[in-house]
Amino acid sequence: MRIGILTAGGDCPGINAAIRGVGKTAIIEHGMEVVGISSGFLGLINHEFVELDENQLSGILTLGGTILGTSRENPFKKSGIFNAIDKPKLIRKHYQEMGLDALVCIGGNGTMRTASMLSEEGLNIVGIPKTIDNDVWGTDITFGFDSALIITTDAIDRLHTTANSHKRIMVIEVMGHHAGWLALYSGVAGGGDVILIPEIEFDLNNVARCLKKRAVNKKPYSIVVVAEGIPAPKGETAAGFVSKTINNLTGLETRETILGYIQRGGSPSPMDRILATRFGAHAVELISKKKFGEMVSLKGNTVTSVSLKEMGDKLRLVPEDHSIVEKARRMDVCFGDETR
Ligand code: F6P
Repeated sequence: MRIGILTAGGDCPGINAAIRGVGKTAIIEHGMEVVGISSGFLGLINHEFVELDENQLSGILTLGGTILGTSRENPFKKSGIFNAIDKPKLIRKHYQEMGLDALVCIGGNGTMRTASMLSEEGLNIVGIPKTIDNDVWGTDITFGFDSALIITTDAIDRLHTTANSHKRIMVIEVMGHHAGWLALYSGVAGGGDVILIPEIEFDLNNVARCLKKRAVNKKPYSIVVVAEGIPAPKGETAAGFVSKTINNLTGLETRETILGYIQRGGSPSPMDRILATRFGAHAVELISKKKFGEMVSLKGNTVTSVSLKEMGDKLRLVPEDHSIVEKARRMDVCFGDETR
């Protein structure tokens, strides 16, 4: 069999480990041919690919980013009225011209939606979920999340020392798109005093009350962790809006830090390397059994798969009553929704 691999959407640590997991399992265990497609679905549209052999797969386990490149190209999105090219038709044509028997799509929610639509069009597709946001429905976790969590937690650890030195309120904004997983986990891991996530509606007056109470109780500084996806006025960053408002409401000195793309960089954590490798190997097992139209997933500690069609547009968001939220509340962490 001859299988193609593409990587689409935001990059994250672990993608190359997944490519390696797919490639080495396919070549060594199943004697398959492997093709790497450039820049996500754009490479299928533009017919850009490279043959991957064991040499190309060597040394990429620890490499951040993706050796294939990525893009946010959505072939099903009509780009303007002059969208003369029938991109899905071109993809089907190039898939056949490449002589592919199956295609592995490594990506987040958007990628899985496109993969599902291509599967409906008759391509033999298997998806592998990746993203630092950890918001892909159907899997307990995505690789990329653990690596980003290490980066964001280290950043919060560093903010404690400067906040303490200046007796300031430090507001740090972490990624996550519409989900608050990274903010919740790094907020708890980093000892955040306030954690604001899109899934829990908050009032900054409650946050101000909490911070003023801390100041009165001789807590010389506070750490406020905010997810980028929380509501903020147009043109303002989440951290900027929260920092300014807290200062206005409390008179306490505040500063903000936006971590940005640092969270997506660097070498994958050992856990992400292991998960990505497991996902890659399992994707090839599904292909060898001709079980297409599936996304590899982790349930508990078992690697399994879910139907791409079943995923639809669902997102995996933080439940308001998540056990970590409940435990943090009992340790006086403020989520901005209570008048403590
Ligand atoms: O999906 C990963 C992610 O980093 C999100 O957390 C973030 O909102 C988005 O990508 C940024 O997108 P881009 O890389 O296109 O700027």
